[in-house]
Amino acid sequence: MDVTAIVMAAGEGTRMKSNHAKVSHKILGKPMACWVIDSALAAGCNRVIVVVGSHSDEVRAMIASAYEGTPAAGVVECVEQAERLGTGHAVRCALEATGIDAGPIVVLNGDLPLIQADTIRTFANTVANGTHAGAVLTFTPPAPFGYGRIELAADGSVNRIIEQKDCTPEQDAELLECNAGCYAFDGALLAAHIGEIGNDNAQAEYYLPDMVEILKDHGHAVTIFHCDDYRDGLGVNSRAQLAELTAIARDRINEHLMTEGVTFIDPAQAWISPDATIGRDTVVWPQTHLIGTCRIGEGCQLGPNTRLTNVVAGDNCSLDETVAIDVAIENGVTCGPRCYLRPGTHLLDRAHVGTHVEIKKSTIGVGSKVPHLSYIGDTTMGAGVNVGAGSITCNYDGKNKHATTIGDRTFIGSDTMMVAPVNIGDDAITGASSCITRDVPSGALAVERNDQRIIEGYTEKRRARL
Ligand code: UD1
Ligand code: CA
Repeated sequence: MDVTAIVMAAGEGTRMKSNHAKVSHKILGKPMACWVIDSALAAGCNRVIVVVGSHSDEVRAMIASAYEGTPAAGVVECVEQAERLGTGHAVRCALEATGIDAGPIVVLNGDLPLIQADTIRTFANTVANGTHAGAVLTFTPPAPFGYGRIELAADGSVNRIIEQKDCTPEQDAELLECNAGCYAFDGALLAAHIGEIGNDNAQAEYYLPDMVEILKDHGHAVTIFHCDDYRDGLGVNSRAQLAELTAIARDRINEHLMTEGVTFIDPAQAWISPDATIGRDTVVWPQTHLIGTCRIGEGCQLGPNTRLTNVVAGDNCSLDETVAIDVAIENGVTCGPRCYLRPGTHLLDRAHVGTHVEIKKSTIGVGSKVPHLSYIGDTTMGAGVNVGAGSITCNYDGKNKHATTIGDRTFIGSDTMMVAPVNIGDDAITGASSCITRDVPSGALAVERNDQRIIEGYTEKRRARL
């Protein structure tokens, strides 16, 4: 689709009372601006210009990290709005910086996270097919406070948009249809007339919504689209609205997943990223968070109390009270309750990671078990290994990290300290409480502990002494 999107993300976001840009605040783990950018990309826009200004370094970095290495990297670009003089000025900056003066342009508020790709596409078509010079998305929220209001002409067409702060009390009470902050314009007409927006209003700002009246005054057709689901048009200006939209996004995602065959014990208590997928017959228990691009297979049990960030898991896994970040999990794996899987961990089929176990940058082989109270780091573990309770890889010497390898079917006795770098072969055994500092050959027993002493009758003698 040969459509340019302009996403306005330069505003101060004063009402958020934040040290960060408003558009960097997250909904289900994803920055607000990225929700809008992703919808524009999903609609097929082939160029997305993000206007940044307030906290612009932070917003630029956030956008770079979101799209780096993805097909969108060459599509999404940032332009600077050095002074925040209003939404009309933001769009003017975007046009001047890029030289765009033709073709259909969709303009989106950066704080409009629930806008749908289909809506953007419909909008772009309205001007792309030449029937209109402009189009504005409208909606009727239960609480219209703060939104620009649509004033209609006698024939029902849009006359102009009046910001709430410029409304008379009568207009405020009577005009309930609001501007959602999603517009489509014919690029040539937008570029030709954007300079005519003035700032003679309550906020002394250049209002983009004034383009409606300007285009009409030049004899061009402008239309409004009423969005029947008001939730699509909600903007975020405050923390309360951020929470409200998070709940709406959560419900929509969970409702969709339920139609796809996922069970939720309580859909109000699971927060699933818009970029996550979950297979059928997976059960999501309360207090489960999926952040980023998680891909979970079929027949899994997630939670309760589980937080997964960029985790790929196969089928029939159980992740109970598990925190995992950048981890790959194959099929039939069981984790928790209470384990911590850190980046670079790979759990092969039927591996088990139990209670109070931390694994970092390690491969746990097929059917291998680390059931209790262990730390395993920088380790390559074969298949069928059993790691006894309390065993630890001592992978850090205070300066560098070192690797441990453990062969197939090896039995690590409880409380074994494996001082890396160290290699333990196949079918080996380490005695409980051993500190392993040298390689253990395949098939060998390594035991490192003092002989046990027995002092007969000690208790009786001690009692007599006290
Ligand atoms: C705006 C609309 C209002 C509409 C509402 C929908 C204007 C004048 N008013 O009001 O009609 O009902 O959105 O939510 O447009 N921004 C910039 N540069 C600026 C100013 C704003 O990039 O100089 C960006 C902000 O970061 C934000 C978006 O534009 O993402 C909208 O600005 P905001 O101040 O939130 O406008 P509203 O008062 O909500
Ligand atoms: Ca807003």
